[in-house]
Amino acid sequence: MTPEEWKGKLSAIKDSFSSLISEKKADYEALYQRFLGRKGELSLLLRDLKDITAEERKNLGMLGNAAKQELLSAAEKIKAAAAAHSAKAAPQIDITLPGINFPKGSLHPLTQTMDRISAAFLKLGFSLEDGPLVEDDWHCFEALNFPECHPARDMQDTFYVNAKDEKGKDKLLRTQTSTVQIRVMEKQNPPLRVFHPGRVFRNEAVDASHAFAFHQVEGLYVDKGVTMADLKWTVDAFMKDLFGSSVRTRFNPSYFPFVEPGAEVDMSCVFCKGQAEHCPVCKGTGWLELLGSGMVHPNVLRACGHDPEIWSGFAFGCGIERFAMLLYGISDMRMFFENDFRLLEQVR
Ligand code: PHE
Repeated sequence: MTPEEWKGKLSAIKDSFSSLISEKKADYEALYQRFLGRKGELSLLLRDLKDITAEERKNLGMLGNAAKQELLSAAEKIKAAAAAHSAKAAPQIDITLPGINFPKGSLHPLTQTMDRISAAFLKLGFSLEDGPLVEDDWHCFEALNFPECHPARDMQDTFYVNAKDEKGKDKLLRTQTSTVQIRVMEKQNPPLRVFHPGRVFRNEAVDASHAFAFHQVEGLYVDKGVTMADLKWTVDAFMKDLFGSSVRTRFNPSYFPFVEPGAEVDMSCVFCKGQAEHCPVCKGTGWLELLGSGMVHPNVLRACGHDPEIWSGFAFGCGIERFAMLLYGISDMRMFFENDFRLLEQVR
């Protein structure tokens, strides 16, 4: 390349640079890459100086370096202008404005109900126990005095699991929390006072008051000389804690294989207080059936290795959904499992 050609190229580069930089959208990065970067037009031209004679090179080198400085400072000006512009365009933060509220979650109504029930039990001196959801026949039925083929088993339509227990019987999803009575009495000696809230499963058709998976809570008290009067007092105190001191309870004879005698417990209607003939909740009877209860059957104590001549006890159990429906005025059990925010937001 002759020195003249070199100079021509330099001035062409300067021309195209200045026409680009005067454009409105001139961008520092793009300009820099195109002219001044490692493979930029000016950088390559300066590298071409090596092909030019030594005496010319000095002169052209000075011209080239001066041009480089010129382009660089023009490009930097653009960069500074762009930075100033974007600072102005950035959102202005008004630190005096109130902050943004983050939506706060809450416990599910059933969890809240279980917590209330647990608190009531704890106040009465009962302690929390746990048990498995997949059970064996012994803990769900046999030890609870439901012998094989006993018709009482038909009251609890059961989901069996494709696995055998130690005795070669099909395992099952527990149908009641009464299983925990057995689990506790097998590992602990009386006196004992325990409760267990948890999930149970029955092959039920789903409707407003039935679900195939629901929750129960179980209370068990075993000591020397425990009587039906203790059961009545305890259940009454438990219900008053949950629904208020004006609530009354009533016991009706009933049958559960693992208690003798057995009773269903009704609570006076918390909605109409027995005053409304057409109360939709108690159907005008003034009473709501809420619990199963009774004195622990001697066969159950024996099955767990305790002598019924020495020990006696009571047990009671109930559905937690039913409690929650009464506590929060919810009319359809399915609402608990639909995860509709409108319900969850109301029950906080
Ligand atoms: N387990 C019984 C049921 O599911 C309820 C119950 C519990 C009855 C404890 C008596 C004593 O129907």
